[in-house]
Amino acid sequence: MKRVLVSRPLPAPCLDRLRAEAEVTLLPGEAPRGEQELLESLPGHDVALIQLTEPITERVLEAAAPRLELVAQVAVGLDNIDLHAARRLGVAVSHTPGVLTDATADLCFALLLAAARRVVEGDRYVRAGRWTRWSLDLLCGLELRDATLGIVGLGRIGTAVARRALPFGMRVQYCQRHAAPPELERELGATRCDLETLLATSDVVSLHLPLGPQTHGLLDRDRLFAMKPGAILINTARGALVDEAALVDALAEGPLRAAGLDVFEAEPAVHPGLLGRDDVVLLPHLGSATEATRLRMATMATDSALAALRGQPVPHRAQ
Ligand code: GLV
Repeated sequence: MKRVLVSRPLPAPCLDRLRAEAEVTLLPGEAPRGEQELLESLPGHDVALIQLTEPITERVLEAAAPRLELVAQVAVGLDNIDLHAARRLGVAVSHTPGVLTDATADLCFALLLAAARRVVEGDRYVRAGRWTRWSLDLLCGLELRDATLGIVGLGRIGTAVARRALPFGMRVQYCQRHAAPPELERELGATRCDLETLLATSDVVSLHLPLGPQTHGLLDRDRLFAMKPGAILINTARGALVDEAALVDALAEGPLRAAGLDVFEAEPAVHPGLLGRDDVVLLPHLGSATEATRLRMATMATDSALAALRGQPVPHRAQ
């Protein structure tokens, strides 16, 4: 019988489907798996059904190949997997694009609104008993109408965020290597510019790029300090796109007004300089966290795993 390793609990219907066709090893406990645990547990399995917290390094892949046929990731981002090594070793990789676009764009916009209108800060203010009167200048934020939203990476999620910005009266500009189709640019009223221009002229910058060697630390100190005075940074992509220590400084003494962050450089650790700031909204990587979306993601990864176990073409392959 084929064997599938499931690194962390999945919805029961997904586990039932896998158990009907394969021997399932469900690693005990809920904690993210370290490289050592994967080195010890993954060899001897045909499929690994994993989450973005599991480091599928070259060593892990080498230890599990050639038996390992597929790494099925319950997420769209693949930065925890050494894709180059997987390709070299003939291990297929699948993921869950598309099904989490709206949930992630919704959360991105929630962060954008919260950071622009100081929602969390206001909540803390009321709870602390500090609210004594209405006043004209109490906790004023950024007006979204006529503000410019700069989307870094106009892919599925970036586009969905841009679409949400239009009814708020925001202007949209974007940067990415290739121009978007003209009909999409028309629909969004969006203009393309380079990253430097986008950072210098956007009131809100939202990141929607995959993390890889070329994007690691993309928003470094120089770029953060070159942002428009009073700008807001929103990150629902990957923490390591941004130099977190430099971000703290750009908030404290640089141009930034606020930040809304769902992702961090070394999750679940958050830079202590961010934790102490009122102008930052922090979430524990909740982009796709609706019940319906998380079930769709787990189902998609299960579909990929079952196809590999049956020797059929694997759907949702990243490579
Ligand atoms: C979440 O961050 C994902 O990549 O799906």
